[in-house]
Amino acid sequence: MSVRSSIRRVLASTIGEQRVRRLGDVEWQARQQVASRVEPSDERTRVAAPGDGAAAERKARRARRAARRRRKLRESVAASEAAFNFEAPTMSRHDLLAALHANLAPRTYLEIGVRDGRSLTLSRATTIGVDPAFEVTSPVACDLRLVKATSDEFFAAADAREHFAGLPVDLAFIDGLHHAEFAYRDFFNTEAWCGPASVIVLDDVMPRTADEASRAGGDGVQAGDVFKAVEIIRERRPDLTVIPVNTRRTGMLVVLGVDPTSTVLRDRYDEVVARLESDDPQSVPDHVLRRTGAVDAAALAASPIWARLLELRDRGADRADVAAAIAEIGGPVTPRS
Ligand SMILES: C[S@@+](CC[C@H](N)C(=O)[O-])C[C@H]1O[C@@H](n2cnc3c(N)ncnc32)[C@H](O)[C@@H]1O
Repeated sequence: MSVRSSIRRVLASTIGEQRVRRLGDVEWQARQQVASRVEPSDERTRVAAPGDGAAAERKARRARRAARRRRKLRESVAASEAAFNFEAPTMSRHDLLAALHANLAPRTYLEIGVRDGRSLTLSRATTIGVDPAFEVTSPVACDLRLVKATSDEFFAAADAREHFAGLPVDLAFIDGLHHAEFAYRDFFNTEAWCGPASVIVLDDVMPRTADEASRAGGDGVQAGDVFKAVEIIRERRPDLTVIPVNTRRTGMLVVLGVDPTSTVLRDRYDEVVARLESDDPQSVPDHVLRRTGAVDAAALAASPIWARLLELRDRGADRADVAAAIAEIGGPVTPRS
């Protein structure tokens, strides 16, 4: 048993387990804030290597920086494990996504943030993948349009939806730039393309530490501050069914009961943009760190809701029918507080 664990046991027997966990959280957040001041991110380091090899050199340096960040993050997460206070996840994000593909048999799939194609490889639907810097190495087995652009550029293009031939997006996975304002825009732009029975999934909504939530690491290596977009979506759109899911490593959000006609998030963007863009260090709420109310991924994957949504989609049901099905089925589909 480590020294840390021994101290933790002694403390727990005197002041109680709950207080020890809180102490762990406070200590961890304080350490992260100090660390980010002592050793600021080298994200903005400019590389001025002239000549033919400059691009390759820049790429190699970016890869080295990302590897350093990953190593640092692994160490920091391991060091703070004692402070985590949530059940061990039963599925990874790709496991849950695979289950949604299998259960929903989407006709169309939109993926924002493709990278090497490990999530794209799960799709058998007519698919659009969007990423300004994809390097797909996984096998792809779907009718695919791969768009090399940022999501904002993509949604602004006149022919963006053409590949779906008039169908709504049945399933969407938002996993692009992990900055809150980008995830928020990706969400409302995607919702506008949905039908009442569509499902939108956001990745990385439950960072485990303030460091993991940093915007400096929000380019895909870390969770970033997407959790702030979720807070605002919840506040502004109580009509949505928003289900946080305890997936490995940094949690997902599954959204049901979407409304493609709603303009609430888009119209009032200027009122929330300062909150979305707030600087590091991020203040991650306790309920996010503890995954309060997050449902078990395997239980959600096994819910009868997916068969019902498929049936509702096929008969062109409306939002009221979807809401009734969600209320009737309950279980992990009904968000807990
Ligand atoms: C976490 S990776 C995606 C991983 C992939 N979905 C998976 O699960 O295998 C995030 C990707 O988002 C891309 N990205 C960065 N900025 C973006 C933007 N503005 N719009 C869309 N994608 C973006 C990055 O190039 C990166 O490949």
